[in-house]
Amino acid sequence: MNYTKQEQLYEGKAKKVFATESPDYVIVSYKDDATALNGLKRGTIAGKGEVNNRVSNILFAYLEKNGIPTHFEKELSPRETLVKRVSIVPVEVVVRNVAAGSLAKRLGMEEGTVLKKTVLEFYYKDDALGDPLINCSHIYAMDLATKQEMDRISEIALKVNELLGQYFARAGVRLIDYKLEFGRFNGQIVLADEISPDTCRFWDDKTGEKLDKDRFRRDMGGEAEAYSELMRRVLVQEESK
Ligand code: TMP
Repeated sequence: MNYTKQEQLYEGKAKKVFATESPDYVIVSYKDDATALNGLKRGTIAGKGEVNNRVSNILFAYLEKNGIPTHFEKELSPRETLVKRVSIVPVEVVVRNVAAGSLAKRLGMEEGTVLKKTVLEFYYKDDALGDPLINCSHIYAMDLATKQEMDRISEIALKVNELLGQYFARAGVRLIDYKLEFGRFNGQIVLADEISPDTCRFWDDKTGEKLDKDRFRRDMGGEAEAYSELMRRVLVQEESK
C-alpha cells in the first residue's frame, strides 16, 4: 500500500486527518499542540507529535500481534501514519488500575490507591457537553452502540489492559489509567485513535515521577522531557526483543 496524503478531512486538538487514494484508509498527522480542560488550556509540547506517533504505533503493533484488532497499518514518517478509515463509536472508554484524576476526585479516593478490580468507564464523546460520564443504559438509550458492540469493546479493553500492563511493567512504568477509542470497520469493532502520553497516566515505578500529560495539565513543567523519557523506555523494550 503506497497511499499519499490527499485533502484534509479533519483537524482535531492533537491530530490532523487526511484522505488517501483509498476510501478505506486515512493518514493521521500528529501535532505538537496540547490542550487540556476541554480545550480551555492550550500550549505546545516540543516533540510531542513524534513521541505520540512512535509510541502509539509501537503499542498498536504489539497489540495486533497479540490478537487485538486495531486500525494501525503503517508508519509513514516520524509524525504520520496510515490507518484504516473507521467510523468512530462516540464513546470514550477509560480503563483504570489505580485511582487518579477524575475518579480520585469524584469518589474521594487518594491518588495512587490501587483499585482491587480494573474499572471501566464510558464517556459520551461530545465536546459541547464536556464528554459526560455515562453508562451502558445511556449508550443503548441514545443508540450510540449496540449491546453486542459494548460487550466486544469491554472484552477488548480488558485484554488490552492485560497486555499493556505486562508491556509497561517490563519498561519500569506503572500504567495508572488511560483512554481508548473504538471504531467500526467492515462491521467489526477495532481499536482506534492513539495510546500515548496524551491519553495515558504513566508513573515511573521507582520514583513515581509522572511521564505523561498530567505535567502539562497540572503546570508541573518538564513535559517535553517526560514525553521523551517515556518514548526512550518504549524504544528500549523494542530493542531488547
Ligand atoms: P481522568 O482521570 O481525567 O478522567 O482521565 C482518565 C484517563 O483518561 C487519563 O489517563 C487521561 C485520559 N483522558 C484522555 O485521554 N482524554 C480525555 O478527554 C480525558 C478526560 C481523559
